[in-house]
Amino acid sequence: MSDSRLRRLYVEHAPKAPEGRFSLGALAGGKGPLELDIGFGRGQSLLERAEAAPGSRIIGIEVKTKWAYKVQQRLTKHGVSNVQVVCGDAREILRRAGPEGVVDKVALHFPDPWWKKRHQKRRVVGEPLLVELRRLMRAEGELLIQTDVEDRARLYLRQLLAIGGFRVVGDGGFVDENPFSARSNRERRALEAGLPIWRILAIRDAG
Ligand SMILES: C[S@@+](CC[C@H](N)C(=O)[O-])C[C@H]1O[C@@H](n2cnc3c(N)ncnc32)[C@H](O)[C@@H]1O
Repeated sequence: MSDSRLRRLYVEHAPKAPEGRFSLGALAGGKGPLELDIGFGRGQSLLERAEAAPGSRIIGIEVKTKWAYKVQQRLTKHGVSNVQVVCGDAREILRRAGPEGVVDKVALHFPDPWWKKRHQKRRVVGEPLLVELRRLMRAEGELLIQTDVEDRARLYLRQLLAIGGFRVVGDGGFVDENPFSARSNRERRALEAGLPIWRILAIRDAG
């Protein structure tokens, strides 16, 4: 298939986000803890998390139509039923999501591949997203942000502490292990290459 036909296929068939205000619970369907995986890329973390937490309802949000489409196909092929893929900008989608205090876990594995200053606006992790996560997460809910770029990790930590409503676990704000029993593609690559990984585990405060 030509590149342009493939692109059209991805755009037309990548799972769409609901329009207007919507309920995360209704989107995920069923019952069980609600989890978000933001920017899942090639989707390994979704597959592993779905297996590690079969009772959870996981919503994966990915801005690239190619990955949203391909990962949805892969989940269907593997018969995974507790993951809902949504294609779009997580910052925009979560602004419209409710109700407050329903999300148990959020994973941001190796976000923000953009380095140039002019691409700063594209970065998904920042105050607007963190404020929405603070609103949507339940008390004692867990937010994991991990990256192999130390400067980014320190920036994320500062942003998180600045908005408040979370307490971070571990020495100096970082933990050694990924507590979610699910590794992302980038995490696997970083481990294989022996790169250090900076992991922030933040717990949503009560109130
Ligand atoms: C460096 S990749 C990491 C992919 C995957 N989490 C992993 O660790 O292998 C970052 C991913 O975040 C996605 N992304 C970036 N900005 C996003 C946004 N605003 N909303 C949703 N996904 C986003 C990118 O398309 C890309 O797939």
